[in-house]
Amino acid sequence: MTTKHILIQGGARGLGLALVQQLLEDDATRITATTRRPANADALTSLQGEVGEQRLAIVALDITDEASIREARQAVGARHERLDLLINCAGLLHDEANDQWPEKRLADIQPEHFAASFAVNATGPALMIKHFADLMTHGERAVLASISARVGSISDNGYGGWYGYRASKAAQNQLTRTASIELARKSKRLICVGLHPGTVDTDLSAPFQKRVPDKQLQTPIQAAKHLLGVIAQLTPDDTGQLFDWAGKKIAP
Ligand SMILES: NC(=O)c1ccc[n+]([C@@H]2O[C@H](COP(=O)([O-])OP(=O)(O)OC[C@H]3O[C@@H](n4cnc5c(N)ncnc54)[C@H](OP(=O)(O)O)[C@@H]3O)[C@@H](O)[C@H]2O)c1
Repeated sequence: MTTKHILIQGGARGLGLALVQQLLEDDATRITATTRRPANADALTSLQGEVGEQRLAIVALDITDEASIREARQAVGARHERLDLLINCAGLLHDEANDQWPEKRLADIQPEHFAASFAVNATGPALMIKHFADLMTHGERAVLASISARVGSISDNGYGGWYGYRASKAAQNQLTRTASIELARKSKRLICVGLHPGTVDTDLSAPFQKRVPDKQLQTPIQAAKHLLGVIAQLTPDDTGQLFDWAGKKIAP
């Protein structure tokens, strides 16, 4: 049984936690999950109690702070000589504490809210690739996925609104693609993609679920299973692309 080394950035709640739970179903996985506040990560800590620290480690990481990413890289490097899968899950759509909500109109745009969205949704995933790619360019198949969103697709934008989230996810997609081109020169078998999870019942979507038909709202575990199914099917030809939870390509 070959061990699969996996890093889930943002694994303490929502979709990231479900990915950790689902990946632990396979006995061959050795996982590190990150969160900004390990002391508050009750669900992850309880999972760790069940499977042991060999299978699941919890590491502090704030994606908006490069020093924190560097420290996490040290901890991850001490535990994993290489990574077979890295999934960046961090995302920011709203932040009650800072009265940040998706903009309905131009008048709602606030530069500090844009900056916060870009830091988490675009710059953060790019910094993760910057610091962790060297653990993934080992020449064997590896997947580096950042969870994106269909609303980041410019060609798919028929409704407008959500300026900061849309633009920061579009930037994330561009950064993933650009990194995929550079990294393909280092390893032909490293696949860098963006993934749209569908609408998932998490804190992020909670205020916006009223208009989502029941059938379209996935549980985090359902979404995690779909995304891991898509990841399993990816080939090097797919690098640089954005896929939805059903494995369909989304145009930029
Ligand atoms: N839910 C949906 O319907 C939906 C739809 C389309 C796309 N997405 C995308 O799916 C991804 C996961 O979202 P979710 O629905 O699971 O949301 P969620 O439950 O609100 O979780 C947000 C995640 O982002 C992490 N995060 C936020 N700010 C961070 C920072 N500064 N540094 C490090 N991590 C940070 C959180 O980690 P902490 O433990 O540190 O808080 C948490 O793991 C996001 O990229 C989101 O944009 C979700």
